[in-house]
Amino acid sequence: MCESMEPGEQLLTNQKQAHYFDGVVELFDQEQPPHILRNLQLIVEAASIQPGDRVLDVGAGVGVLIPLIREYKPGTIVACEISAKMLARLAQKYPDVQTHLSDIAEVKLPDGWFNVIFMNAVFPNLVDKPRALANCARMLNSSGRLVISHPEGRLFVERIRDVVPFPLDPLPIFPQLRRMLKDLPFLLTLYEDRSDLYLAVLERTGPPKKS
Ligand SMILES: C[S@@+](CC[C@H](N)C(=O)[O-])C[C@H]1O[C@@H](n2cnc3c(N)ncnc32)[C@H](O)[C@@H]1O
Repeated sequence: MCESMEPGEQLLTNQKQAHYFDGVVELFDQEQPPHILRNLQLIVEAASIQPGDRVLDVGAGVGVLIPLIREYKPGTIVACEISAKMLARLAQKYPDVQTHLSDIAEVKLPDGWFNVIFMNAVFPNLVDKPRALANCARMLNSSGRLVISHPEGRLFVERIRDVVPFPLDPLPIFPQLRRMLKDLPFLLTLYEDRSDLYLAVLERTGPPKKS
């Protein structure tokens, strides 16, 4: 699992990954097939976004979630990405979205700032999941939601693991996810592991943590 990587190795893996995603912007910037679009809608719906909310999209790519998030009239949308070219395309398409070129484990936005954080099709890519989850817990307000999802399901990730040129972890099954959250202020309120959709909703418990 990537969590056991040394910090230097994590940095190199992220650089390799950013380079890879810089090269596949056109591939990602395409209309979604109807069944995937439907799953993306279910993923966004699961976050219960309220008008005026602050929403963070982690590993946002070219912004496939942005138009779906906008339907819920959030106040602010922020995108965090390690691929400069993905983020540049997102900024060109959605100039109102605030962008941060950063690993989610390191991004420094204020404590308790977000109501909702999405990690769509990116959790397996995170080289330091404990730090990424802890940073999201820090940035979420009390009862804020972190949505971990994949619109093509856990088995799809299993199939592509051997063909991508960087380490990709499996999506965690229920007991593994519970174990990852053991020392974090999250309550797992939804876990669906369908053949075509992976969807977990984690609710932030307790008051926001001061850094
Ligand atoms: C498979 S793509 C998914 C993009 C988008 N979420 C979607 O559903 O189309 C994964 C994206 O996550 C980004 N990424 C990988 N590790 C990241 C990290 N630690 N922090 C932020 N972004 C990351 C990659 O650069 C890539 O653009």
